[in-house]
Amino acid sequence: MYICICNAIRECEFRTAALGAGCDASGVYQRLGKRPQCGQCLDDAEDMLEEYRAAACQQKVAA
Ligand code: FES
Repeated sequence: MYICICNAIRECEFRTAALGAGCDASGVYQRLGKRPQCGQCLDDAEDMLEEYRAAACQQKVAA
């Protein structure tokens, strides 16, 4: 599934690039060598980033 149509960024690419990144969704795009164009995906990308970080935090607590 694509998280960003303009940049053809897949959800899995986004999640991988978000690993260890302490930045917002635009910063993750930048790590992929992309930048937001229409901006319609950014709210969903921010939500995904937040969910991903919360899940990663729970995994650390459980370990
Ligand atoms: S869909 Fe991501 S910038 Fe347009």
